Amino acid sequence: HISSLFLSYVIGSISFALVIGKLFYKTDIRGYGSGNLGATNVYRVLGKKAGLIVAIADLLKGTFACLLPQILNSAVSPIICGLLAILGHVFPVFAGFKGGKAVATATGVLLFLTPLGTLTGFVVFLFTLILSKYVSLSSMLAGIAIFIYSLIFEEKVIIALSFFISVLVIILHRQNIKRLISGTENKLW
Ligand code: G3P
Repeated sequence: HISSLFLSYVIGSISFALVIGKLFYKTDIRGYGSGNLGATNVYRVLGKKAGLIVAIADLLKGTFACLLPQILNSAVSPIICGLLAILGHVFPVFAGFKGGKAVATATGVLLFLTPLGTLTGFVVFLFTLILSKYVSLSSMLAGIAIFIYSLIFEEKVIIALSFFISVLVIILHRQNIKRLISGTENKLW
């Protein structure tokens, strides 16, 4: 069903970092901090509450896209819908195709497809964040952890998806990786 595919991409394209920033703070987050359209940058620039709201909203749009085939009674795979939401988040039609780094939205998709894998990733994320204070490093390691979990416990298609997500997240963090290596990456606190 073409409409669930289309809707998944469109919903993914709604950047809550941009929407919340403009609507409630009169701020285009792209001009501040890392410039990234993501919850981390919203947290950095607009504060804890805004960051948390964006993280949850960007996550839920990923989960919602996976539910669309069920809601619209279509035979499309939730995996494809989730993937399209992630691509919408990264290449949003509403924001000049320059979006975020996939972390929150991919988490929402993976939460639907592999809840225990996502929990594993979340533990790795928290552990890394507490030790390093780097969200970027924590996100990349969480992605790799979910891939490793999938390799052991999930079917091939989830393994392929989590591999794709890990690679995508790492590619989108290439500037962060450079900063991590040069010791100039921002810490969360
Ligand atoms: O989810 C994005 C995060 O890992 C890094 O964000 O703003 O520090 O580039 P930022």
